[in-house]
Amino acid sequence: MTVVGPFGLSVRDQALEADVLTGLSAVEASLLDAAKSEVPFIAEAAQHLVRAGGKRLRPLLVMLAAQFGDPYAPGVVPSAVVVELTHLATLYHDDVMDEADVRRGVQSANARWGNSVAVLTGDFLFARASQILSDLGPEAVRIQAEAFERLVTGQILETAGPSAGRDPVTHYLDVIAGKAGSLIAVAGRFGALMSGAPESVVDILTQYGERLGVAFQLADDILDIASDTHESGKTPGTDLREGIPTLPVLLLRARVEADGEKEDLELLELLEGDLTDDATLAEALRRLRTHPSLEQARRETVQYAEAARATLTPLPECYAKSALVELCDAVVHRAG
Ligand code: IPE
Ligand code: IPE
Ligand code: MG
Ligand code: MG
Repeated sequence: MTVVGPFGLSVRDQALEADVLTGLSAVEASLLDAAKSEVPFIAEAAQHLVRAGGKRLRPLLVMLAAQFGDPYAPGVVPSAVVVELTHLATLYHDDVMDEADVRRGVQSANARWGNSVAVLTGDFLFARASQILSDLGPEAVRIQAEAFERLVTGQILETAGPSAGRDPVTHYLDVIAGKAGSLIAVAGRFGALMSGAPESVVDILTQYGERLGVAFQLADDILDIASDTHESGKTPGTDLREGIPTLPVLLLRARVEADGEKEDLELLELLEGDLTDDATLAEALRRLRTHPSLEQARRETVQYAEAARATLTPLPECYAKSALVELCDAVVHRAG
């Protein structure tokens, strides 16, 4: 048994391990290549976050999904590169939106070179992703374009907030399905599709990716509160400071509306106030970390991961399926 990747998956089969590791190292080489430019400054800015690492969840999912067909089919690695490059580009943009200083344990592109360079570097990476995608055919282009539309819509809806009368939790779940579920669904779909897996398997792995992505984002939102920079490579409390209400805060708000406990109300007021000051943010984080709403959010996150796992039931038993089952636990129980 070997432990593969940052999710600590225990792969019990040497052939599967070899396939996944071979695929992921090909992806790594291609990512660096795709971020090259004849203009040294562009190459520096574009390779900055590629070199900083990241968990490579999406390429890993492509490789596992490709096990249901021919994992060495020519479209598998390029499709993983497209998905990771798209993800990477959205991180450049997201850090501008969130005014984040740290990403993948290094200075964010916006902190280092300013917003304009960060936005344009994101665009550059989208352009490179599109070039690779164009070789995979019109169906792949359409799949990616539709997912990208959903992703951007999710980011915009998050910024806009719920429209009048709309339930904030429903709005939040729509936002995270869009901004995270959409692209992780593409990872499952591309892996299966490019490997030539049967259509029914492609559908299952698409739905699995969508649900896994929602659980993954729920966990990310909890880590914004519970984790430190050393573990996550990001600044804790970024969502709180930006006033983005994630599940733990929405659950706290519901609790205040239901019973109006003084301590809960005080914490909510603190969270809804100005958190620019580091000490105030640290205090809000300290109190939220031990609040029952955080634990409740954790329990709900596990339920979403279980829903992802349930979609796998019709798949034939194999080592890749076991790894996908394990991935559901891994994404919600991770430390960073
Ligand atoms: C961060 O994604 C943005 C979300 C959708 C939660 P990841 O947590 O996959 O970021 P990296 O690639 O590991 O840095
Ligand atoms: C952004 O979500 C997801 C995308 C980049 C589309 P977050 O804002 O939670 O991501 P992090 O926490 O900065 O990685
Ligand atoms: Mg962010
Ligand atoms: Mg986050």
